[in-house]
Amino acid sequence: MEVLEVIKARRSVRAYRDVPVEADKLEQILTAVNQAPSAGNLQAYEVYVVERPELRKGLRQAAFDQEFLDQAPIVLVFCAHAARSVGKYGRRGEELYCLQDATIACTFAMLAATALGLSTVWVGAFDETEVSRILGLTPNHRPIAMLPVGYSADHPRNRGRRSLSDLVHRL
Ligand SMILES: Cc1cc2nc3c(=O)[nH]c(=O)nc-3n(C[C@H](O)[C@H](O)[C@H](O)COP(=O)(O)O)c2cc1C
Repeated sequence: MEVLEVIKARRSVRAYRDVPVEADKLEQILTAVNQAPSAGNLQAYEVYVVERPELRKGLRQAAFDQEFLDQAPIVLVFCAHAARSVGKYGRRGEELYCLQDATIACTFAMLAATALGLSTVWVGAFDETEVSRILGLTPNHRPIAMLPVGYSADHPRNRGRRSLSDLVHRL
């Protein structure tokens, strides 16, 4: 798919089929993630690929019982890694760039998954401490976003957006 078609086709999917994601598709998604821009090219983020059912179940609980987290065969957990950015950028690296790096990486994963016929939903509502505990994360890997990846069992509608005239401020 052309990138603009991919952007138009993407929807948040909250129901997944019980079908595994092919290893080569996962590899392509992770390779796309690794192409994401980052402040100073420091890539101040980490990606955890969570496949074990008991861990996905834990993530579901940590995310206030969002059930699709243990329905999808894979959950990617994007973590900000401030220590990679703070040396060069100080407070801005610690408080902003590492979060932006992680969120851009997650966006690349969403779009790559869509291009490969897979679906995702960005999950931001979760207890960070719980996610860190369940996955055994080191304290300097802060979970920022979780992304279930799998084959859709749903056809979500287009949610609509603000009008460009409301959103865009031309100066
Ligand atoms: C920062 C962020 C946090 C989100 N957290 C959740 C979440 O915890 N659970 C969920 O079901 N959707 C979550 N979403 C998905 C949004 O609800 C969704 O993107 C929005 O309603 C627009 O729908 P669309 O993605 O299908 O266009 C989140 C999206 C973003 C960007």
